Amino acid sequence: MTSPARSFFAPVELAHASRLINHGPTVLVTSAHGGRANVMAAAWSMPVEFTPPRVAVVIDKSTFTRELVAAGGGFALCVPGAALARATFQAGSCSGREGDKFVRLGLRWRPGPVLGMPVLEDGCAAWLECRLIPEPHTEQAYDTCFAEVVAAAADARIFSGGRWAFGEGNEDLQTIHHLGAGRFVRAGGVIEAG
Ligand SMILES: Cc1cc2nc3c(=O)[nH]c(=O)nc-3n(C[C@H](O)[C@H](O)[C@H](O)COP(=O)(O)O)c2cc1C
Repeated sequence: MTSPARSFFAPVELAHASRLINHGPTVLVTSAHGGRANVMAAAWSMPVEFTPPRVAVVIDKSTFTRELVAAGGGFALCVPGAALARATFQAGSCSGREGDKFVRLGLRWRPGPVLGMPVLEDGCAAWLECRLIPEPHTEQAYDTCFAEVVAAAADARIFSGGRWAFGEGNEDLQTIHHLGAGRFVRAGGVIEAG
């Protein structure tokens, strides 16, 4: 666990947190408990409420992540840029039960500001630190987890003033969207319609 030499990350107002995943990027779900930390890929996450900002993410019951989230009471959704596409796929193709995936994938993290959940900045466009909302019935019946966003930040080179700014020069930070079987499409084809 080390911090990057230079970070362009800046806090995002919680009122704007939903915009970080509104467009459906594949995320890295990070978790920690009892001295262990983990990361997995998730294509299925979404905002569900503005105030307070709440999110839903599908975390299969069989994953190590789910175990840590239940024990640690939270997680972070880190939004990888295109440069992390391969690492994202790998994070979703093996289990942290087999060894420390952060080390294996060369992902550096630091504790988030409110819950201490691992947040990734190198190669990521944004992160949201989230407190699990205990829902015993839902947790037993489904793989969907609900949580409240308690802190958020984004790389100011691609998200500032509450808006994404995809453009020439920040392609490596542009978010990735899973097409299946390890293929992603990179965001960036912005169409102005309003
Ligand atoms: C691109 C991609 C997207 C994925 N999306 C999800 C998802 O939304 N929900 C889920 O439960 N698993 C998803 N997975 C599978 C998990 O990431 C995978 O089971 C992972 O190995 C679990 O790791 P863990 O046991 O270390 O927690 C995805 C995998 C990939 C490669």
